Amino acid sequence: MRTHYCGEVTEALLGSEVEVCGWVHRRRDHGGVIFIDLRDREGLLQVVFDPDVAAAFEAADRARSEYVLRVHGKVRRRPEGTENLSLNTGMIEVFGEELEIISRAKTPPFQLDEVDVGEDVRLRYRYIDLRRQAMQQQLRTRARVVGVLRRYLDHHGFVDVETPMLTRATPEGARDFLVPSRVHPGAFYALPQSPQLFKQLLMISGLDRYYQIVRCFRDEDLRADRQPEFTQLDIETSFLDEQDIMGLMEGMIRELFREVLAVELPEPFPRMTYAEALQRFGIDRPDLRIPLELIEVADLMAGVEFKVFSGAANDPKGRVAALRVPGGGELSRKAIDECTAYVARYGAKGLAYIKVNDPARGREGLQSPILKFLPDAAVSGIIERTQAKAGDLIFFGADRAKVVNESLAALRTKLGHELGLVEPDWRPLWVVDFPMFEYDETDRRLYALHHPFTSPRASDPAQLRENPERLLSRAYDLVLNGTEIGGGSVRIHRPEMQYAVFDLLGIGAKEAKEKFGFLLEALEYGAPPHGGIAFGLDRMVMLLTGASSIREVMAFPKTQTGNCLLTQAPAPVEEEALRELGIRLRKTPTPE
Ligand code: AMO
Ligand code: AMP
Repeated sequence: MRTHYCGEVTEALLGSEVEVCGWVHRRRDHGGVIFIDLRDREGLLQVVFDPDVAAAFEAADRARSEYVLRVHGKVRRRPEGTENLSLNTGMIEVFGEELEIISRAKTPPFQLDEVDVGEDVRLRYRYIDLRRQAMQQQLRTRARVVGVLRRYLDHHGFVDVETPMLTRATPEGARDFLVPSRVHPGAFYALPQSPQLFKQLLMISGLDRYYQIVRCFRDEDLRADRQPEFTQLDIETSFLDEQDIMGLMEGMIRELFREVLAVELPEPFPRMTYAEALQRFGIDRPDLRIPLELIEVADLMAGVEFKVFSGAANDPKGRVAALRVPGGGELSRKAIDECTAYVARYGAKGLAYIKVNDPARGREGLQSPILKFLPDAAVSGIIERTQAKAGDLIFFGADRAKVVNESLAALRTKLGHELGLVEPDWRPLWVVDFPMFEYDETDRRLYALHHPFTSPRASDPAQLRENPERLLSRAYDLVLNGTEIGGGSVRIHRPEMQYAVFDLLGIGAKEAKEKFGFLLEALEYGAPPHGGIAFGLDRMVMLLTGASSIREVMAFPKTQTGNCLLTQAPAPVEEEALRELGIRLRKTPTPE
């Protein structure tokens, strides 16, 4: 139907006849002459209709925003002074000789170049929203990313294998989406939270290197970087240790950045232990672009009369940490109160601070509501350790370590962005040496920090049981600018170790056999040492395109409450369908 894409008609075609198809982006009636900016995926093209060409002119007069047109015309130079240098096609225009209205369009719910369109309207009319150039770019970048990743993995001997969507629960820490079986009333499939167990089985099958670009389903609280269904680049290898795997994977990420952004990432990527990350940044996915760090001051506070500080300093599970903010002295009282309210969301009961006017003058040069509670030694210790300079502000967190870490980590990120301290850069980081387990005070039991198939740094079950809370695992996460883009581990490949880990997690032999019998059995038939990783594809594309949320890089995402506004899913089903499935609802749903 066409000779060229709209966006490809440039000066090189001056004088030639072209045939183009696209949507009416804008139509302007300039007293006798009609201008239509015709749009397709490659860009905009200005077409001019003159009353002298009556049929085309009349059709152009009837055309409206978002009509689909086919135009035949001649490429000519735009009159001097009317060129548009921001467009590929900005030096030329097409003189329209024939115009066919292929499809008419209702008035769109929003203009494509409108900036502040509510997300609900955008999602409800996603097919129109996706006509925007920025959205098209994002989807095309996503496709390129997938292409580069596939090429790298194919080149390195990875085999693309599909695994089932209708399967059994995979414990990745979220709730499962369940699918009832009609043939087996009362029985349910689970949609995979990840292909974890299947990829391990593929290693036992001798595939050696597997990958899959695969949809995963997790019923969990949604955020800007989480969706109930999302895509993983899922990978598993045999006979490689964690160093080999990390090396191979960072090669892939480096290639990706080179190809898509022409950015050279460091070689090798820096590594940091989980313990160090928490110590310095309060979080296991630190954004290294922000030059602020938590500083330990518990030892200086152990004897002070201010109970909030000394209490936490003397509590083995407590922490007292300082966060020096260079130039933070400018923060107003109101801004500090706002920070206090912000950390309260993370459970912090307060946010003590010291304004540093002139550190050389000791106490006199400082301003703080807590100064009166602190002896000279503590004050000078703080100044020395934080290396505070005139004009700085020092914040303090004192509480259980978890609260201090979470609140100061969040504050660090907030202030980093608000004070413009984020260095424009790409800062990948491997976080390694995760604890194997985490003890939950409320449930009084251990949880696997990664997943229960991760290998502990223990050579046998006896060593595993010695001190499980202090044991490290062979897991690693890849963090980029504060976002966890991937995580993986070397796996357990001996059944007795797998049983022992289940046991520590409160999963007895009977339950283990019931839920994961197929894996445990497979481990008895010759399992190679194996390990792998999964990357969040949506998150990677979000970072690569600078998008503000993963919804911006998914064609048809769901809302924060898990709805698809376009198709109105989830939706009630006919009574008959439920009957066939042997299901009776406890409550008839109230229409929303
Ligand atoms: P994990 O649970 O860490 O590991 O997931 C791997 C990566 O997937 C991304 N991700 C998500 N992206 C969008 N929305 C979500 N709801 C969501 N949840 C996770 C993250 C994360 O780093 N089977 C293991 C991997 C392995 O051990 O090989 C797993 O799934 O970027
Ligand atoms: P108070 O004596 O409760 O008025 O607290 C004095 C100062 O210490 C105030 O600036 C509080 O914000 C701060 N503060 C109180 N509790 C904590 C805490 N757990 N961690 C850090 N600062 C705190």
